[in-house]
Amino acid sequence: MRVDFAARTDDLPCGLGSGPIDPAMIGAAIGTQSDQMRSGVDIPPLPEIAGGRYTSETMQALEDAWLWRRTWLCAGRESMIPKGGDYFVFRKAGASILVVRGKDGKIRAFHNACRHRGASVVREDCGHAGLLRCQFHSWAYNLEGHLVGVPEENGFPGLDRSERGLLPVRCETFEGWIFLNQNPEAEPLEDFLGEAGRQLTHAAMGDLRVVERRSYRAEANWKVTLDAFLESYHLNTIHPQTAAIMNDAQNSAIHLFERGHAWLASLRRQYLSQDMGEAGQPDISAMHESFRKYAITYNLYPNLVSPIDPVGFPILLMWPVSRTSCEIEIYFLGPDWGEGERPSFYESYFAFFDQLIEEDLSNLASMQKSLDSGFFPGALLNWTERKIYWQHQSMDEQIGRDRIPQEFQVKPVLMADGGMEG
Ligand code: FES
Ligand SMILES: [Fe+2]
Repeated sequence: MRVDFAARTDDLPCGLGSGPIDPAMIGAAIGTQSDQMRSGVDIPPLPEIAGGRYTSETMQALEDAWLWRRTWLCAGRESMIPKGGDYFVFRKAGASILVVRGKDGKIRAFHNACRHRGASVVREDCGHAGLLRCQFHSWAYNLEGHLVGVPEENGFPGLDRSERGLLPVRCETFEGWIFLNQNPEAEPLEDFLGEAGRQLTHAAMGDLRVVERRSYRAEANWKVTLDAFLESYHLNTIHPQTAAIMNDAQNSAIHLFERGHAWLASLRRQYLSQDMGEAGQPDISAMHESFRKYAITYNLYPNLVSPIDPVGFPILLMWPVSRTSCEIEIYFLGPDWGEGERPSFYESYFAFFDQLIEEDLSNLASMQKSLDSGFFPGALLNWTERKIYWQHQSMDEQIGRDRIPQEFQVKPVLMADGGMEG
């Protein structure tokens, strides 16, 4: 059977288009897509996702070479390096990238490999330096990455300092976030984020403060873990006392953007803070009303998930650690409370969130074991789980379908939703 997927997704009201965010359109999208799910009419079946995608070393090698090193990755907040000379080292997905703020206030990034023999230029995870001096033989670089000091330089006849500066990494910012891309030819971050990025500016993230950073370990492939955060089909079963009391998964809509980004919007049952009965909860006053009315979770390809909420919200990043384990790195953002102690609201907020994450993690290690048993041919996705399909389809597109063994390939059947024009 041939299914016209483009027609399926194109003609649905997408909710947030290129103009101002329109809650009425999100409501219409939720109405249309939920009715479609209830009736079951014209819902196309999605092809299976091969189990081997989560277990094969070939896939892992392809991701290392063609995915992580060739896409924009969220590496941290600008506020982590507020002053000229402040730096941190981004060590995820096999990278070691030095991110440093110059005296001119500009943030730059370099491979953290000395151009003498490749030692780490800085060893600490973060710090402050006027000069970046390699620990091994003391070659020194300024904050712009230029080589400015070489001991016993006469022993390097013909050395041209200007050719042995630190190797730069593309570094651009968005709403207070620092993004890196190891592909020098990459398109600008703004183009990569596209419409999803423009919509996210209405969440007013740029003004928010990092309330807390946490890291969880999942004993499962990073894609097994990410998939669990791309669908709301599991809400009523895994999260009856947490996410399900806030979001109505049966009244929801999905929007697929170019380059693998997407959102999932649901009717809100309650605000997070109302569940906890806390007075004086924070409020992001500049946040657009669409995010108050609807629970909208964005995912930015390849590994970022963020459920936007006016009391504050987490940004989750899934990083591969090994073939069978990953890190869930989380930044919690909230409105700045100025001087003084953090509002007590956050204690109950984090307890609630911990429970929610534990619930999500509860299946993952055993899932990985099942997948690794080799007897699991492939995953069958519900239409409401199509963000997972979109993620995998987009990965194949980026890696290059021809490079992927045929048995692991994802058929390109989904298309990005149209904009609002017309
Ligand atoms: S490796 Fe850095 S100075 Fe020798
Ligand atoms: Fe969940």
